[in-house]
Amino acid sequence: MKKVYIKTFGCQMNDYDSAKIKALLGEDGYVATASPDDADLILVNTCSVREKPEHKLRSFIGEVRHHRERGARIGIAGCMAQHAGASLFKRYRKDVDLVFGPDHVPNVRELVQRTETERVLENSFLDNAAFAFVQETHSDGKVGAFVTIQKGCDNKCTFCIVPMTRGTEVSRPSAQILDEVRALVDQGVAEVTLIGQNVNSYGLKTDEKTFAELLYAVAELPGVERIRYTTSHPRDMGPDVVQAYRDLPQLTSHLHLPVQSGSDRMLKRMKRFYTRERYLEVVSDLRSARPGLSLTTDIIVGFPGETDADFDETMTLLEEVGFDGSFSFKYSPRPGTPALRLSDEPVLDRVAGERLKVFQKRQQELTLVSNKRDEGRVFDVLVEGPSRWDDDVMCGRTGTFKMVNFPGTADLIGTTVAVEITRGFTNTLRGELA
Ligand code: SAH
Ligand code: SF4
Ligand code: F3S
Repeated sequence: MKKVYIKTFGCQMNDYDSAKIKALLGEDGYVATASPDDADLILVNTCSVREKPEHKLRSFIGEVRHHRERGARIGIAGCMAQHAGASLFKRYRKDVDLVFGPDHVPNVRELVQRTETERVLENSFLDNAAFAFVQETHSDGKVGAFVTIQKGCDNKCTFCIVPMTRGTEVSRPSAQILDEVRALVDQGVAEVTLIGQNVNSYGLKTDEKTFAELLYAVAELPGVERIRYTTSHPRDMGPDVVQAYRDLPQLTSHLHLPVQSGSDRMLKRMKRFYTRERYLEVVSDLRSARPGLSLTTDIIVGFPGETDADFDETMTLLEEVGFDGSFSFKYSPRPGTPALRLSDEPVLDRVAGERLKVFQKRQQELTLVSNKRDEGRVFDVLVEGPSRWDDDVMCGRTGTFKMVNFPGTADLIGTTVAVEITRGFTNTLRGELA
């Protein structure tokens, strides 16, 4: 029996690819292991969306490279492998056997076999027509699973490296998506999360279903209790998807809708193609369609040219929407991105850091307000497993995607139970079976 260890950085795309890699290598007899120490193959699935992950790669390789001396193979996959493949291949010539980009995940079995006799680099983009989505599934026995519906991204948000690491957008045939969802349900999955960089544009460039039609089709499959999706682009959030929140009870009451900035001037420079006003309109439409919808977002502070006044607009947007949560980042210049041309107006790192702190502090307060508001309410909670600290406490999520801990037994895992919230904290809720 051979063992594979995979370390995954980055977003849900990488999580999904790592699961696919495990499923594919499983056909060659590999089982996944939780430690590099007993692995025959050590892979790191990289991310390059911001600066820090690149440092993480360096220290990861530093930690595992001695395993090569005992014959283990080491490989770098993911987005950095795609856009910096050749230089990584050279830089780590003594440390890694294999470098391959996301387009080559479907061929991972062959690539690993080739490392028996040579070092391997594969980071070309495949033709859209030649790109094949992997059908093999690997639910890991979890209650929820990701299902990819598209690869790549055709947008050109000026700060973003993803179009360069994932290539152009390809929508996966809906028949394949529905097959994968069925297979996952058979493995015990109750919640599917449809993933892509811009899911709302699914199918628009082909004669496939639209994204809204896909949601309805998934909802028709027996056993799918909850449907989530990520990531949405505000520009492409159309009335048909809003309508789905009226029609489909399976669609959960949480939406991650990255806004990036509250300033129209910044949105323009980021080439996001919506205004603050339009974003607020979408939010209001969604909230009328689904009262109680929880909203989270992504924010970038310190984008080139961002003034105090621009940042204030992000803060007032935060108040106006009252986001239940958010991920916020300091702008990080990425190689090859159009925003590099705006670098004559950099925001001082110290200033960006302060803005980030101000934003995150206020968000934390608003998240706590949102969680306190839930006290005394009863939610359907899909039970995921025991809590990290206590086997007699079960952990699950509300339809609003909040984590709830409550006293309960393991036989509840995989079921949906009614839980009354007794206490809201900053990151979680506590409750009792209602
Ligand atoms: N496709 C998604 C997000 C992809 S990247 C979307 O359109 O929203 C995830 C988040 O990382 C982005 O929403 C953005 O907030 C952040 N991000 C991307 N590039 C960045 C950069 N260069 N610097 C800082 N944050 C960045
Ligand atoms: Fe990047 Fe924009 Fe595409 Fe999202 S929509 S992946 S932010 S280019
Ligand atoms: Fe990172 Fe690639 Fe995802 S750059 S955020 S792993 S698409």
